Amino acid sequence: MNSFWLKFKKPIFALAPMAGITDSAFREICRRYGADATYSEMASVSALFFKPQKTLELVKFNDSERPYVVQLFGKDPAHFAKAAKIISSLPRHVETHRDASLQTRPDGIDINFGCPAKKVFGHGSGCALMPQKELARDIISAVCENTDLPVSIKIRAGLKDTTALEFIENTKDLPYSAVMIHCRTYEGGFSGPVDFGICEEVKKIIPEKIVLGNGGINSPGDAVKILQNYPTLDGLGIARGAWGRPFIFDEIKNLLSRSRDALQCVSTDEYDFNKIKKNMLEHAELIYRNKGRLGLFEIRKHMSWYVKGFPGASELRRKLVLAESLEEIKNILNCA
Ligand SMILES: Cc1cc2nc3c(=O)[nH]c(=O)nc-3n(C[C@H](O)[C@H](O)[C@H](O)COP(=O)(O)O)c2cc1C
Repeated sequence: MNSFWLKFKKPIFALAPMAGITDSAFREICRRYGADATYSEMASVSALFFKPQKTLELVKFNDSERPYVVQLFGKDPAHFAKAAKIISSLPRHVETHRDASLQTRPDGIDINFGCPAKKVFGHGSGCALMPQKELARDIISAVCENTDLPVSIKIRAGLKDTTALEFIENTKDLPYSAVMIHCRTYEGGFSGPVDFGICEEVKKIIPEKIVLGNGGINSPGDAVKILQNYPTLDGLGIARGAWGRPFIFDEIKNLLSRSRDALQCVSTDEYDFNKIKKNMLEHAELIYRNKGRLGLFEIRKHMSWYVKGFPGASELRRKLVLAESLEEIKNILNCA
């Protein structure tokens, strides 16, 4: 299997897909600060089937986000097949790679089997596919047969009577190369108990594929503890833990590089405000480069997350969300 997933030094730390959050700027900033791989926001295969150009806009990226995986959701294998074909036929390389409007081939395609959101699940996509044995196989096959890019899947720990173990047993012979498991069940939503033990069980079924655990990793200490307790994990997917803290990936790697004894006495939640301000500015510049003034609206939620824990955070947050230009953001941060 010639897949970038199999070439990483382990453990692998991936920025998990998040609709409305993991846009090009956020992916780039996370890669800059240690994420090993990034995922797009989920893109609809039916939208790609009917309106490819508009949907390709959503998943456009820069070379600096690589290895970069486009995540697809839907329920129709024919739409998955066409979407995989469209993505795989994008040009491999273009000259001026700094321009995010250029569309090149990503490094992989991921299939969403984990989303519980009403507008996805209610249409029979995302996590609703986990118990549908034949359909789930047809979808994975449709993608694998229509791309030469590495294919990965994202699943939940379970849904009703179907567990991740059953899902993997049912699909283990298909040639996907990685799985990210959100270790909460569908019923557990986004705050229920997280069971990383299921990843170790899954790894026993598919030892040749990459298994990443995801869910509730909000600090470098969380990540290190999980890797110590579940040593057969190939890596972790981090989602909300990167909100306002894209440098969490570097922090985890730094913490892991310390000796066991040093790990016992280190506080993993120390904030370096100057580092965060530098990060905020870089992020604002990237989003402005990609989206212009519209980006300044989108950066507001990130700014609110970044300033959590800052001295005078609420006043700073108030000023930042009112900022109407990059210059204004710079001035506010310089004075903070
Ligand atoms: C705002 C938001 C959007 C998300 N969008 C997606 C998505 O597009 N595709 C997907 O597979 N998971 C999506 N997820 C799930 C995350 O990838 C991740 O599995 C989940 O948040 C658990 O990880 P965490 O506890 O580290 O946040 C989303 C989560 C959030 C909070």
